[in-house]
Amino acid sequence: RKQAEEALRASERLMNNFLENIPSYVFATDRQHRYILLSNNLAQFYGKPKEEILGKTHHHVFPKDLADAIQATNEQIMTSGISQHIEEVVESTVGGVPRVMSVNKSPLRDEKGQIYGISGVATDVTEHKRLEAQFRQAQKMDAVGRLAGGVAHDFNNLLTVINGYSALLTDRLSQDDPRHEMAVETLQAGERASELTKQLLAFSRKQVLMPQPLNFNDSLRLISSMLDRLLGEEVMLAMDLAPDLWLINGDKGQLNQVTMNLAINARDAMPNGGTLTIATRNLSVTPEWPDRYGMIPQGDYVHVSVLDTGHGMSPETLSHLFEPFYTTKEVGQGTGLGLATVYGIVKQSQGYIFADSTLDQGTTFHLFYPRVIAAMAAAAAPPVVHKKGSERLLVVEDQDSVRALIVQALKQDGYHVIEAASGEDALRTAALLSEPIQVLITDVIMPHMSGLVLVERLRVTWPGIRVLYMSGYVDPSKPAFLDEPGTAFIQKPFLPDHLARHLRDLLEKSL
Ligand SMILES: Nc1ncnc2c1ncn2[C@@H]1O[C@H](COP(=O)(O)OP(=O)(O)OP(=O)(O)O)[C@@H](O)[C@H]1O
Ligand SMILES: [Mg+2]
Repeated sequence: RKQAEEALRASERLMNNFLENIPSYVFATDRQHRYILLSNNLAQFYGKPKEEILGKTHHHVFPKDLADAIQATNEQIMTSGISQHIEEVVESTVGGVPRVMSVNKSPLRDEKGQIYGISGVATDVTEHKRLEAQFRQAQKMDAVGRLAGGVAHDFNNLLTVINGYSALLTDRLSQDDPRHEMAVETLQAGERASELTKQLLAFSRKQVLMPQPLNFNDSLRLISSMLDRLLGEEVMLAMDLAPDLWLINGDKGQLNQVTMNLAINARDAMPNGGTLTIATRNLSVTPEWPDRYGMIPQGDYVHVSVLDTGHGMSPETLSHLFEPFYTTKEVGQGTGLGLATVYGIVKQSQGYIFADSTLDQGTTFHLFYPRVIAAMAAAAAPPVVHKKGSERLLVVEDQDSVRALIVQALKQDGYHVIEAASGEDALRTAALLSEPIQVLITDVIMPHMSGLVLVERLRVTWPGIRVLYMSGYVDPSKPAFLDEPGTAFIQKPFLPDHLARHLRDLLEKSL
């Protein structure tokens, strides 16, 4: 008998050990749904002592609806004798946050095979689910981004030609020529189209940003009166700006664009008035920081929150929020590019953005911009007035129509222009020249030989040559070539006027 008792105690110890250390939640209930066993961690999850729960039913620990549902499933299992795998969303009394549980339940049988209850093992899969959803979302954004970038790239080339020639036409036709108006209309439509491609490029993170260390509060203060006007009479603007805000690395114009787009959306969500609150604070993300989003790496950030008291969003809208052309607004009211642009700019600035929203209560956008430690040193360039010149230029562009436009525009400005349709062509031409050229204007992406390789080769012969790169599409992960002295960049599509200005800037820069 003593031996039997010893064996029983050992088995109990084993069982208790097991229950205390298993990372899943373990429980058993009887025919009347009363707990006959539960693991310590489950009692903790319920936020009640184990002794209090034992002998009580699900109604003691769950809200009525959930308890009823659980008992209905358990009845089924006890009647059919078939095990079930269920996913349940459960609120924890401790944190109050809903957790997704993956639960395996089986009937308990006595020695006669009679079912007397339920045994279950539940695993918390909340984290898993969240990561899965995040992964799917990232993949989707990536695919859409690539599509948008590709479309924008091709349109940029076309628009450079369309807008360029319409601009030249507008210049040449006299004001009282009826064709003048037509050219103006064409140019205006073309410029609206290039606004759209610009937004697409921003979304696909293929914009060339000019980041510099800046204080986000300063940027906000500068645009606050514009924001005020934008929001109208009915919407209040409140700012809660942290003193001694850390610096971030950003493109001023683009970061303002982000704020403006968010403000416009907030205004549209508050047709009957409300408050838009923009708050900034320094935030160190540490392992202890409760990162609900689970994807912000450790480090220092400037956290900007943009909160409105508008109509909020449904979960459906939230899940499509940053996709280009996703809009719930009426035709003509919104294109659905506002947040796509925001997303692209924030990502390209190495930042993070999330939205929280509840229908009828409002929306908060959270932005996290990484801190940068740098001395402020950004002298503004003086504006350039004149734009004509007489220097010798080599223009390399594989698209005939784009090249013809550029050559024509530059010749009109007085430059001496030599042209080439490819990198190879340019090298051949250059070898035959008796006098050196001052500036190479080249496309970045060309078949066979890229603009970068061409520059490398040409610099062997002419080390001092200045280079103006043009592209509608540059991989922003390697814009190192922009840091070289004597180098500048112009984004397609551009107007002849912009080209002339960039060119003069480059020529007048002292090396
Ligand atoms: N603050 C907000 N409150 C409620 N809904 C919002 C808010 N911001 C965005 N949304 C929803 O997200 C959708 C997409 O926004 P987004 O800015 O990308 O496009 P849009 O505002 O519809 O059009 P566009 O910005 O191109 O004029 C909106 O149509 C709206 O349904
Ligand atoms: Mg918008």
